[in-house]
Amino acid sequence: MADRGFGVVMELAQGFMASQVLFAALELGVFDAAARGPTDADAVARESGLSPRGTRLLMDACARLGLLRAGPDGSFTNTALSSAFLVSGSPLSQRCTLLYLAGTTYRCWGHLADGVREGRSQYARAVGVAAEDDPFAAIYRTEAERSLFTRGLQETWSLCGGRVLTTFDLAAFGVICDVGGGAGALAQEAARLYPGSAVSVFDLPDVVAAAQEEGAGPGVSFLGGDFFRSRLPRADLFVLARVLHDWGDADCVRLLRRLRRALRPGGAVLLVEAVLTPGGAGPLRTLLLSLTMLLQTRGRERTGAEYRDMAARAGLDRFRLRRPGGPYDAMMVRR
Ligand SMILES: C[S@@+](CC[C@H](N)C(=O)[O-])C[C@H]1O[C@@H](n2cnc3c(N)ncnc32)[C@H](O)[C@@H]1O
Repeated sequence: MADRGFGVVMELAQGFMASQVLFAALELGVFDAAARGPTDADAVARESGLSPRGTRLLMDACARLGLLRAGPDGSFTNTALSSAFLVSGSPLSQRCTLLYLAGTTYRCWGHLADGVREGRSQYARAVGVAAEDDPFAAIYRTEAERSLFTRGLQETWSLCGGRVLTTFDLAAFGVICDVGGGAGALAQEAARLYPGSAVSVFDLPDVVAAAQEEGAGPGVSFLGGDFFRSRLPRADLFVLARVLHDWGDADCVRLLRRLRRALRPGGAVLLVEAVLTPGGAGPLRTLLLSLTMLLQTRGRERTGAEYRDMAARAGLDRFRLRRPGGPYDAMMVRR
């Protein structure tokens, strides 16, 4: 029993090492090298200017973690997992998400105890930028950081955007606006699934300008503004995906009230979030995401009942929650 218990504790304690193996291999281009054909550690080290010793140790660890497959001749190939999610340019690549986690999120998590002690964002400690007034001033503290954050978030929707948007049939909503929709990947999916609807994205001016510069979303229009202060466009359906989890309850209700006022009669709001199980005890993935929200934003993940109550305070009712499977759930409330 003691041996087993020790093993469990050490596996938990060393969890960060496994994350770092993944992050380092991604950053150093190991999976991209393996995608060009079977390769050995010396070749990767030579090509990328790495130490042969370190590269060998890193690739061995990757193989043990299921991220590379080691051949009998010392060569390595990608596994199905790394081919799908870790190679640049793969349709399901989560490269930007992982690089963001490896950089900013990892640094913020280094201050988890401080975050719990103080109950607030740890941006100031982690990167030297205060996030008290507006978490997004810190999240978007440089152009590179804004770009990595936004591109990372978009990657999720290649995986589950269609599922989330078909959980409820949205075809009856003629005008759909994705509020806080970032660079428009989810909106683009909505435009593809519901060709009879006009789809737009409303986000901060800098995010919109960058999305337009990068040629985002055919079939989607963009509008820049502040969803707490600017005039919102009228719509039949507002989508709020991973927005409420950034904010405290009072700000969420304020935003939902603004959306309700801008909704056309018969309109609705589609909330897309990772919803905690009733009572809030799980799933683990969502509880950990909630701690990330503590460290990087003013929000947290919530149960369906908590979303229902906030929506009701904003005058939105007929709450329905559906879990399509996968990382995100869909909830609909009506004006
Ligand atoms: C966590 S991200 C979610 C992005 C996107 N909905 C998704 O799920 O991929 C939150 C989004 O809210 C936007 N946002 C934050 N504060 C905002 C504000 N005051 N007005 C408009 N958009 C804002 C951010 O720029 C960002 O795109």
